[in-house]
Amino acid sequence: MKRRDFMNWVGLGGIASSLPVAIAACSSQTTPVSRDWQTVGTSAELDKTGQLLAKNSPAGPVLVVGTSNANLTAVNPTCTHAGCTVAWKAETKKFVCPCHDSEFGIDGKVQKGPATEALKTYAVKIEGNSVIVKPS
Ligand code: FES
Repeated sequence: MKRRDFMNWVGLGGIASSLPVAIAACSSQTTPVSRDWQTVGTSAELDKTGQLLAKNSPAGPVLVVGTSNANLTAVNPTCTHAGCTVAWKAETKKFVCPCHDSEFGIDGKVQKGPATEALKTYAVKIEGNSVIVKPS
């Protein structure tokens, strides 16, 4: 075998043997999101500040705003621009992203960019003393 043939053979072998490792490193490690109703906190927790953040709920990240008596809304607080966590501003009734100032209405729709896609929303209700949500 000539030196050039040997180097080509070794080079192809190296690429072929490292491909599965590269694919595994790029694959997503996220846990599946439940499509059922999930408890994300208590109505007492929600009523204390008018918002309830459950970053690791089985339904995915959830931010519930409102009170147990009225105006309940739940969104996925992950900004659709680059993934920062939006905050609820009760005085202006908007979700505001701290990274690049995108703003979303209480329905999750974009009011100001750079984000172009709405926040994902959840159906939300109070059952007993629990706040429960379900992807909508
Ligand atoms: S990550 Fe939210 S505006 Fe950029």
